[in-house]
Amino acid sequence: MKKIIIAIDGYSSSGKSTMARDLARRIGYVYVDSGAMYRAVTLYAICHGMATAENGVDTAALVKALPDIHISFTPAGSDGIQHTMLNGVDVEREIRDMQVSSLVSPVAVIPEVRHRLTALQQEYGKEKGIVMDGRDIGTTVFPDAEMKVFVNASPEERARRRVKELSAKGENVTYDEVLENIRERDRIDTTRKESPLRKADDAVLLDNDNMTIEQQMDWLLKLYEDRDR
Ligand code: CDP
Repeated sequence: MKKIIIAIDGYSSSGKSTMARDLARRIGYVYVDSGAMYRAVTLYAICHGMATAENGVDTAALVKALPDIHISFTPAGSDGIQHTMLNGVDVEREIRDMQVSSLVSPVAVIPEVRHRLTALQQEYGKEKGIVMDGRDIGTTVFPDAEMKVFVNASPEERARRRVKELSAKGENVTYDEVLENIRERDRIDTTRKESPLRKADDAVLLDNDNMTIEQQMDWLLKLYEDRDR
């Protein structure tokens, strides 16, 4: 069967990473989490004093440091998850914490950061057979992707899911703090100048507010199989 590119975009915590990863595993494709790359750059900025809650992001310093930031992924381990590597160190856990979440969208507005990560993401897609999730995959990274999905759910439902996920990892977060972060990231992601979050005209919309993980997987698999007929 001819390999294709599958782009899954959508709002923060809409469940797109879970469905993208599961789909890739089911159909034997490579999965790439583009958000993890933005998170890794953000972690680098935090660790090097270029991003703080008080002062925001030092764009000039971060842009200058970009050649020193190397991001890659391990193959999926026993947990079924590929881990994100930043300059050779596994940072999968750190990039998911609230500190990174609260600074990642300001980092992701920087055009130089976007250009660098977009180029890396396009490299991954050269051989096709890839599922990539993010905010601008169907619009900017792979505008010619053969299958595009745009996922959404209400901010409240997305916050509930994220609290559950973070609590399971032992992170102490409140629902209000997570909801506030989701709303703020939605705002920054949809209003930024460079490749803002929006549904590509040819993307299929999935509103998964009232869907279980299994139901959304069935929906996605059907979409994939039907387009192959
Ligand atoms: O997991 P969650 O939905 O919270 O977000 P993510 O996919 O890990 O992405 C984190 C942040 O990176 C987003 O809020 C965006 O600001 C940015 N991002 C982006 O600008 N473009 C992408 N292709 C992916 C993520």
